[in-house]
Amino acid sequence: MNILLTGGTGYIASHTAVVLIKEGHKVVLFDNLANSDISVLDRLEKILNKKISFIEGDVLDSELLSKTLKEHKIDAVIHFAGLKAVGESVENPLHYYENNVGGSISLIKAMQKNGIKKIVFSSSCTVYGEPQYLPLDESHPTNPINPYGFTKLFAENILHDLSISDPTWSIAVLRYFNPVGAHESGLIGESPKGIPNNLMPFIAKVATGELKSLKVFGNDYKTRDGTCERDYIHVMDLAEGHLAGLNFLEDHKGWYAINLGTGQSTTVLELLQAFEKINHVKIPYEIVGRRKGDAPACYAKPSYANKILDWKTKRSIELMCESSWKWESSHSI
Ligand code: NAD
Ligand code: UFG
Repeated sequence: MNILLTGGTGYIASHTAVVLIKEGHKVVLFDNLANSDISVLDRLEKILNKKISFIEGDVLDSELLSKTLKEHKIDAVIHFAGLKAVGESVENPLHYYENNVGGSISLIKAMQKNGIKKIVFSSSCTVYGEPQYLPLDESHPTNPINPYGFTKLFAENILHDLSISDPTWSIAVLRYFNPVGAHESGLIGESPKGIPNNLMPFIAKVATGELKSLKVFGNDYKTRDGTCERDYIHVMDLAEGHLAGLNFLEDHKGWYAINLGTGQSTTVLELLQAFEKINHVKIPYEIVGRRKGDAPACYAKPSYANKILDWKTKRSIELMCESSWKWESSHSI
C-alpha cells in the first residue's frame, strides 16, 4: 500500500514508518516540523537503507494535502499530526483546536476529494478522563479534563459521524496509553523540546546529567508504593499496532475505537528502579507534591485490540528503559 503519515517525522510516526517500510509498504511523510527535526529523515534512511519521501507542509493546507494524496497515489492515511502538550493546550486552547481539530477536518476533506477512505487516527487514553473503573476498556465513558483531550475526542467524533454519513469509510481510532522507548538502533527516539513534561524522557535526561534530579509527583496515592501507576507501552509495539490497524481496515468498514496498551501497570518508582537497574545508572529523585490533574492509576484492558487486530505487546519495561537510554545517551552527547 501507499501510506501517508501526517506528523511523519514525529516520535511515533517515525517508528511506525520503520515497521511499515520493512513490511513492504511505500510511505510518504508529511510534517510541518513544528515539533520534530528534519534530521529524522537521514536517520530513518540509515536504518532502512532507503530513500524516504518527505513533504514539508501543514495539515491545515488542504490543497497541498490533496495534491500529495494524488501524486503519491495514496491508499490509506495514518493521522499522527497534532500538538500534544497538555499544559500548552490549557494556555492556548484555540491553537490546539485549530491545529488538531481543524487539521483533522482539512485532512478528511482532502481524502474525500480524492476518494481515499481508509484512516488510522492517533488518539489517546486521555479521552477517558479520570478513570471510573480499571482497567479501562473502550466502553468506559469519555470525559476529557483538558483542551488537548477534547481535541482528540472531537476528532474521534467527527470521524464517527463521517462513518455514519458514509459507511464506506474504514476508520481505526487508536487510543494509546503511555508510549515510551525507542528503536533498537538508537538512531530515532523521543526528543521533546525544552524540559520534558513526561516521565521517561525526564528520567533519561537526569541520567545524562542534563537535569539534576527527578521530582516524583506524590507518594501518598493508594497504589502499591504510593506513586502513580501508568500503562507504559514500547513505541515499537505501538508502531506494530498501526500496521495491525491498517491490515484490519483492509477488510472492515466502519468506525472502531481501540485501546493500545499492555494491560500492565507500573508505578513511577518502579519505572525509575527498572531504569537504574538495566542501565547501571543512578537517578537522584525527590518526592514533591501531587501534580494537578494526575489520576492515581491508569491502565488499559487491551483485549479488544488483541482480538480484532490480532496484535499484542511483546516488549518489557526493561527494554523500554534500555532503548530510551540508548537513544538519549547517543543523541545528547
Ligand atoms: P510528536 O510531536 O513527536 O509528533 C507529532 C508530529 O506532528 C510532529 O512532528 C509535528 O511537527 C507534527 N505536526 C503538528 N502539527 C502539525 C500540522 N499542523 N501539520 C503538519 N504536521 C504537524 O508527537 P508523538 O508523540 O509522535 O504523537 C503523535 C500523535 O499521537 C499525536 O497526535 C499525539 O497527540 C498522539 N498521542 C501521543 C501520545 C504520547 O504520549 N506521545 C499519547 C497519545 C496520543
Ligand atoms: N511524573 C513525575 N515526575 C515527572 C513527570 C511525571 O512524577 O517529572 C509522574 C506523573 O505524576 C504521572 C507519571 O509520572 O504519575 C506519568 O506521567 P507522564 O506525564 O509521563 O504521563 P501521563 O500519564 O500523566 O500523561 C501522558 C500525556 C497525556 C496522555 C497520556 C497517555 O501527558 O496527554 O500520557 O498517553 F494522555
